[in-house]
Amino acid sequence: MDNLKNKKIYVWGASNYLKDLLDNNKLSNIKLDGIIDNDISKDGQFFCDLPIYHSEKLKKLNPDLILATVPNCANIIIDIKKKINYLQLNSEVKDISEILLKPYNMSFFECVKFRYCKNKSKLNQIMSIIQRELPNIYTVYSMLSVKEKYLLYYLAKYYYSGEGKIFDAGIFLGGCTEAFLKGLILNKKQKDVKKAIWAYEYGNATDLYNERLLYNVYNIEPNQNDFTNITFTNLNDLKYPDKIKFIQGDILKQDYPDKIEIMFLDVCKTPEINFRIQQLFSRMIPGKSVLIQQDYIYENLPYIKITMGYLRDYFEYIGSIGCSVVFLLKKEIPMNILNINPCKIYPKEKLIELHNYYNKYLNEAQKIRVLESEYKI
Ligand SMILES: C[S@@+](CC[C@H](N)C(=O)[O-])C[C@H]1O[C@@H](n2cnc3c(N)ncnc32)[C@H](O)[C@@H]1O
Repeated sequence: MDNLKNKKIYVWGASNYLKDLLDNNKLSNIKLDGIIDNDISKDGQFFCDLPIYHSEKLKKLNPDLILATVPNCANIIIDIKKKINYLQLNSEVKDISEILLKPYNMSFFECVKFRYCKNKSKLNQIMSIIQRELPNIYTVYSMLSVKEKYLLYYLAKYYYSGEGKIFDAGIFLGGCTEAFLKGLILNKKQKDVKKAIWAYEYGNATDLYNERLLYNVYNIEPNQNDFTNITFTNLNDLKYPDKIKFIQGDILKQDYPDKIEIMFLDVCKTPEINFRIQQLFSRMIPGKSVLIQQDYIYENLPYIKITMGYLRDYFEYIGSIGCSVVFLLKKEIPMNILNINPCKIYPKEKLIELHNYYNKYLNEAQKIRVLESEYKI
């Protein structure tokens, strides 16, 4: 935190989230100079005792650091950076969560491998430990939160044994793959494993959200949706092409690893893909394989939650990070169970029950998102 001393620091957005952080002393180590907000009617007012400035005053304020205070603020950060470039300022822009995370004083080795960690609910504390290492996993744009990227980094560095592959599905521009890779190359035992990461990507923007990101980050016009080359270049620029097997195209039509040790799913965007992936759970290693469902705490894609409820006897809930929920495969799942698509055989009432099975582990905000997904069954 020392490097923040004597800097002009502003937060972006007079939000309830900011109020919550200030009320709970989460920012007590930082001296904030004020709030910048796009709403001109707030200009000159105070929020939580901090003066609010309209974003038009950005040039005059000339901040050293701007902290975006909206959860999952990747898009907002892109917009702020554009403004800064336009005004030719040198301000640094960060997601405030990067500042909030604090080192946790637990023996490093106590947590190094969470398969040996007795209290699995300590996943969040484990995440904090990783902060000490502050890996540089930001070169490739990612839709994931910082914490989620740390999780992937952590798993590849400390947990991965090399018995199976890292199944990285739906990599978009390669941000999640970068997080895995940066951990993997520091994994002392697995330094020489070839093509440990199998990275799947369709390579074509199929929705407005992806199109907008491609436009914002790479100036790709909405009618030129193919981003395969960008992802390919991003992965090559990471300098370890021997570690990654990039599999471009529809994941439904590809080869899959015989054994999967870590499965990161950001690809189950249709019921068909979800069901195909469900069948691949047979390739996971009982007692070892970790599954990360990135779209679990999300108001859409209810069939993902239904699948996990259906397979509740086989997976153990480990914890949640951002929108992701992490599971450990407890025991082998018989193929006849995996070949049943629960969405096709159960009545709506039963599907709702399966969908909500893990709600008991979620906090109120998470439950609200999952409740919205329930309405889509
Ligand atoms: C939410 S994005 C992934 C974000 C990424 N994990 C990151 O770190 O930024 C989901 C990705 O899944 C890809 N996708 C969707 N359907 C697919 C399919 N059938 N086969 C392969 N990839 C697919 C999309 O093209 C999209 O890039």
